[in-house]
Amino acid sequence: MPNFQNITLEVVDNISTVTINRPGKLNALNFATLEELEQAIDIISIDNNTRGVIITGSGEKAFVAGADINEFTNINNAQQVAENGQRIFSKIENLNKPVIAAVNGYALGGGCELALACHMRVATENAVFAQPEVNLGLIPGYGGTQRLTHLVGKGKAIELIATADMIKAHEALKIGLVNHVIPSNQLIEKTLEILNKIKEKPSISVDLSIQAINASVSNPISGFQVEAKCFAKSTKTKDFTEGTSAFLEKRKPNFKGE
Ligand code: COA
Repeated sequence: MPNFQNITLEVVDNISTVTINRPGKLNALNFATLEELEQAIDIISIDNNTRGVIITGSGEKAFVAGADINEFTNINNAQQVAENGQRIFSKIENLNKPVIAAVNGYALGGGCELALACHMRVATENAVFAQPEVNLGLIPGYGGTQRLTHLVGKGKAIELIATADMIKAHEALKIGLVNHVIPSNQLIEKTLEILNKIKEKPSISVDLSIQAINASVSNPISGFQVEAKCFAKSTKTKDFTEGTSAFLEKRKPNFKGE
């Protein structure tokens, strides 16, 4: 097992739990964390002992508050950054074991996209979802434009992405973004209840069902490519520099449409 710095991985009773572990930064996904997440998924994919996976965030405030904005301030290979995140999240989506995002607070930007890449989402009552990238002069780049659209439909996806609105767990439940909303102290219990039920089923049938359901989304490849290109374009704008600077300087951004 690698010596992870930004995540933890543990296996108990055939269920692997990956916890994003940067609570001081609300579990924001810096590149090192993404790399460790990919390693964990690779380990789990060949671990015959694992029959289900939970992805969650450390602490009570956040699942994952997005990509680490500090690393976006001098981004010069943006398309590659997006394609890298997309590749890792696609590994989760195509994992040969069921994956549940246990969303314990903010799931913003890349955090919402991480939850979307999981097969199911169970959220606590205080969970908050948003794709706030436009506030930074960006667009979602880790699959959000594709997976959010597939999950909640085009109209709601455009509304959420274009307004950057934060929605609470019960609203997310109403639009089909999450499977269940439950009190905080029952999050892992409920997630385990689902995975333990699936664990009793034939694993090949479960795996093949997930593969077939994933295939119901017709050829999403070009959509992901367009997303990575548009993400890269957004990082070339003045509004992107303004949006990220304003966040880091803790002030309101002044966008000029440039
Ligand atoms: N990237 C980098 N750092 C982040 C972060 C992110 N996406 N989200 C939160 N943090 C950091 C903050 O900078 C702060 O660090 P500091 O204590 O060193 O200053 C720490 O995490 C705590 O966040 P803070 O903003 O003080 O907490 P809050 O309760 O006031 O606000 C949020 C919580 C989630 C509303 C706010 O942190 C936020 O808007 N985060 C960015 C969300 C976002 O735009 N994500 C998409 C990125 S593409």
